Amino acid sequence: MDELRGAGIPFHEAVTLLAWAMDCDAGEVLLREPAPEQLARYRSAVGVRKTGFPLQYLTGEAFFRTVRVEVGPGVFIPRPETEVLVGWALRHLAPGDTVVELCAGSGAISLALAAEGPGCRQYAVEVDEVAYEYAVRNLAGTGVDVRLGDMAGAFLELDGSVDLVIANPPYIPAGAEVPPEVRHEPERALFAGPDGRDAIAVVATVAARLLKPGGILVFEHAEGNGGLEAPEFCDVQTLADLAGRPRFTTARSVVAINP
Ligand SMILES: C[S@@+](CC[C@H](N)C(=O)[O-])C[C@H]1O[C@@H](n2cnc3c(N)ncnc32)[C@H](O)[C@@H]1O
Repeated sequence: MDELRGAGIPFHEAVTLLAWAMDCDAGEVLLREPAPEQLARYRSAVGVRKTGFPLQYLTGEAFFRTVRVEVGPGVFIPRPETEVLVGWALRHLAPGDTVVELCAGSGAISLALAAEGPGCRQYAVEVDEVAYEYAVRNLAGTGVDVRLGDMAGAFLELDGSVDLVIANPPYIPAGAEVPPEVRHEPERALFAGPDGRDAIAVVATVAARLLKPGGILVFEHAEGNGGLEAPEFCDVQTLADLAGRPRFTTARSVVAINP
């Protein structure tokens, strides 16, 4: 216990790292004595953690809603605020719906939708090869069709047939300061042009192509950078995360009156 309290990192992180070093559940670390090599492994990880290296990259896993995903250097670590976006999407899905995730990263969003959803036909696309490999592993056995490629040209065969498009794209303005810990994550997952809207603009264009009339788009964005002005969409709403900050926008694909 002294080892954990005196680690110099938050207590819950020390417990997580000791459990990882001992290859056991967090609850067990207070009941068992670590072997010398496990203690050495833990102390070494604490040292690395103190440099700002992300906890999830050390343990190799992240928890997102009801699911666990494998993560590591080269892939974005799923964030709690994104859980709210997924919760909103789940409330708008029906059995058999077609769902596309753009910018899939580790696949956390698609995995949560597969685990908690009503049984949908799911697709996901990721441009980065390292992230794509994580998504493939994390989504194995779910039936989600994961593809490597730029979202701009993805799923042309689904045009006009999708019920819901979901995305947590990169949205930090290029050159903006980010906390030291975040600098360990891939730039392509973080930054998106001078105002942080470059990837969001592509998401909107792709969603306009993919969605059936009345279909739904939901995407995450930076605080103060939401909304969507595009003639293909109506019912645009910007909604709050758990902290009450406006962090995701939803919109509906317009139904053509004279198709
Ligand atoms: C903020 S991360 C989100 C990852 C994951 N959806 C999540 O919430 O944990 C954005 C992801 O978009 C990917 N990405 C960036 N530009 C893309 C593009 N043009 N097409 C497909 N994926 C892209 C990045 O590689 C990164 O994995």
